[in-house]
Amino acid sequence: MNLDDLNKVARAMTAPGKGILAADESSGTIKKRFDAIGVESTEDNRRDYREMMFRTAEAMKNHISGVILYDETIWQKAKDGTPLVKIIEQMGSIPGIKVDEGTKPLPFCPGELITVGLDKLADRLPKYYEQGARFAKWRAVIDIGAGIPSYTCISTNANALARYAALCQVNQIVPIVEPEVLMDGDHDIDRCVEVTEFVLKETFQQLYYQRVKLEGMVLKPNMAIAGKKSAKKASVQEVAEKTVKMLKECVPAAVPGIAFLSGGQSDEEATAHLDAMNKIGNLPWALTFSYGRALQAAPQKAWAGKAENVAAGQRAFAHRAKMNGLAALGKWQADLEKKAA
Ligand code: 13P
Repeated sequence: MNLDDLNKVARAMTAPGKGILAADESSGTIKKRFDAIGVESTEDNRRDYREMMFRTAEAMKNHISGVILYDETIWQKAKDGTPLVKIIEQMGSIPGIKVDEGTKPLPFCPGELITVGLDKLADRLPKYYEQGARFAKWRAVIDIGAGIPSYTCISTNANALARYAALCQVNQIVPIVEPEVLMDGDHDIDRCVEVTEFVLKETFQQLYYQRVKLEGMVLKPNMAIAGKKSAKKASVQEVAEKTVKMLKECVPAAVPGIAFLSGGQSDEEATAHLDAMNKIGNLPWALTFSYGRALQAAPQKAWAGKAENVAAGQRAFAHRAKMNGLAALGKWQADLEKKAA
């Protein structure tokens, strides 16, 4: 393992004004997204859609530091035969790969999940490196509800995250460590903070036990945010302040960068929250985005599966990438959204 190189990649992934495009939807998830815009989820359609984003030079060169791919995509070629990975590299962006294999029910813990995929990971990682991946992602899911999360769920998922991260690093791949506390429930922001702090502290303890080098990883957390069904929605400023405080309590300064998931926030909320955190300033780590839905909802709608809409899809993608790039610098303003509209 070369830790200097891992650190260089981690810093490039969270470079000023840039963030990560999470385009690693599994076949099931991308089908859901395509269903919503009336597009059939075929291998060619998935390729065309992702090629459209990867060829958006303005977004990719200026605001997208890296792209998380799904296994299918990392082996795919564009219509003209260029590997999609090459297109990403030519744009000056770093290819990455989702390596977890989804979730299974956690025994004796009703309603809770464990992320799987460790068994053959040591064999798969060198192949992904050879194919161009310089970072990876593993997502653990923690739900908040009546009597959950359990310590069993938190500790088992944290252990899996740490074992994944160690395997990545010995294979010269930067792990994105993603313990996602879902925003599906009716809990308020303070309950989200309480659970997320517990999850993050346990995750960093397990990373320590597995000897993971913090300088060579990126954390992908949820923000401190009220559940979608909560009657008490928190303001942008409250989300920003409570998220920064929570992260300062839990994330060592040796971690070069933190890249948030959007988790079901609207496009503009996800941007406004990130911007407000960076406006607070004086942070020990880079704070940026690793958004899936908040970067792709608009381009998906504009594209709608039609070749004649590719330019419109690319404009929509470039706009969201630019807005989030500004938010990563704390330089976004709400009226920039209206101007574009
Ligand atoms: P969202 O931004 O849509 O939550 O997706 C990010 C991601 O990669 C979740 O694993």
